[in-house]
Amino acid sequence: MNDDKKANNIIMNIKKIPSVPFTDQKTGTSGLRKKVKVFQTPHYLENFLQAIFDVATDLKGGLLILGGDGRYYNNEAIQTILKMAVAHGISHIKVGQNGLLSTPAVSHLIRKYSAAGGIILSASHNPGGPDGDFGIKFNTANGGPADSKFTDQLFASSLHITEYKIATIEDIPLQKLGEYQCGETRIEIIDPVSDYADLMAEIFDFPSIQALFDSGLFNICFDAMHAVTGPYAKAIFQQRLNARTSSVINATPLKDFGGGHPDPNLIYAKELVERLNQGKDAPNFGAASDGDGDRYMLIGRNFFVNPSDCLAIMTANAHLLSGYQQGLNGVARSLPTSRAVDKVAETLGIECYETPTGWKYFGNLLDDRRITLCGEESFGGGSDHIREKDGIWAVLFWLNLVTVKRQSVEEITRAHWTRFGRHYYSRHDYEGLDSNVAEQLMEGLRKRVETLKGETFAGHTVSFSDDFSYTDPVDHSITKHQGIRILFEDESRIVFRLSGTGTEGATLRVYLERYEADPALHDLETQTALADMIAIARELAELETRCGREQPDIIT
Ligand code: G1P
Ligand code: ZN
Repeated sequence: MNDDKKANNIIMNIKKIPSVPFTDQKTGTSGLRKKVKVFQTPHYLENFLQAIFDVATDLKGGLLILGGDGRYYNNEAIQTILKMAVAHGISHIKVGQNGLLSTPAVSHLIRKYSAAGGIILSASHNPGGPDGDFGIKFNTANGGPADSKFTDQLFASSLHITEYKIATIEDIPLQKLGEYQCGETRIEIIDPVSDYADLMAEIFDFPSIQALFDSGLFNICFDAMHAVTGPYAKAIFQQRLNARTSSVINATPLKDFGGGHPDPNLIYAKELVERLNQGKDAPNFGAASDGDGDRYMLIGRNFFVNPSDCLAIMTANAHLLSGYQQGLNGVARSLPTSRAVDKVAETLGIECYETPTGWKYFGNLLDDRRITLCGEESFGGGSDHIREKDGIWAVLFWLNLVTVKRQSVEEITRAHWTRFGRHYYSRHDYEGLDSNVAEQLMEGLRKRVETLKGETFAGHTVSFSDDFSYTDPVDHSITKHQGIRILFEDESRIVFRLSGTGTEGATLRVYLERYEADPALHDLETQTALADMIAIARELAELETRCGREQPDIIT
């Protein structure tokens, strides 16, 4: 060991702190998500971490990847995790510099370095700050979110905590790259970007994309929304691909995301939308990502591509990209994601899987090589390169596609609709509902769908309806009550489900869809095109009588 390393040898003691269980540490769609103030309750974070170390026994003696989206409480939580990981005999921890690592980067690092798991600190697109949200996700050795078996054990374990183990060491400086030895544990502060950027360069044709930027005829605007993707976007788009300095906005990660929602949609990525709509000098291509870098939104000049269409278009064109030219094993979409990709899969003769909401359900399909691409309507897209959705990957996929096709985002999308038909699609969210009222509403729908088949509403006849239950084709596990789906003979569809990521009350999500094959009808305004489905959904769910809500809170 050289002198530098010796200098970083840290003296420590291990303590056992008595504690009592919290009864609310059940993970949702994506990890444990609560208000910052809840995580700050004495022992709350430590208890949950103790449950992780109790269940993820492979971590002992193994490698742990650790980082987060930089939100308020990120670095305090990292110090606690480091101390508890040391106390639990983790042999090596790679932590992102300044506590930063995007969710996709963690997934990649786990796979690249054969880690036993990863801990990601993020509440994704939820606002941050002392009054905002915080979250913890645990990813397993395949790089993906822990499956339901693991999270069930985690919850059970959290209910039996009597003490937690923690090392008494000083805080580890996270600002500088370096290494520290604490007892048996090596803590390494790593560059959060370089491994991930290398992976992107392996998948996509960087020289061609760079040539397009160098031509001066094409330019992008990427909005990092003051969240984790700023450093990734600058390193990849600007340093490696030579895009101009104005190509990345809101690039500095801030604890409160500048007071905004780091949620890439037309409402919250307002600055980006304004830039793209500036007329002939506007960038040709716009994109944004969320708090932890797994979501993305794609826009052209005055043109929005919905994420379900993005997945369909990627599927139809993947063979044109060198990284995917061998073709696709299959594709998957979550239940609420529109069925646009189903049409493409049918034409390509590949399997299309319908899974419950949440990326964890794609894991087995990817590991078993049944699918290559997957996506969710909630601005998520990804492939078998990692086991998480991946915002920057999706943007690079589109940049590579634009480079190959020499067409704009709008031209590519319109050509797709002409070939496969258009799926008008929208999601209506009713937020802050009383949890009991929301449960009763879903229960009412569960009963109602048993007898809906054959009934006609405003000229649309129900061809199929159920409460979605998923049998994993790989491990045969069954997941029930994943959403109410109602299909109509004309291929329209309505899906109802309750959100599993909220931190207050209940959110009802209503997903509306209508298929239109005729290109002459591809220019309708989305809400107008969906007017019948919107009215039917409100009637079936008895939204007004049960919840007293005349309008959704958010329409995407
Ligand atoms: C939401 C999205 C879902 C996504 C999850 C985590 O979950 O709808 O697609 O996987 O966030 O990013 P929900 O709140 O609907 O349970
Ligand atoms: Zn996210």
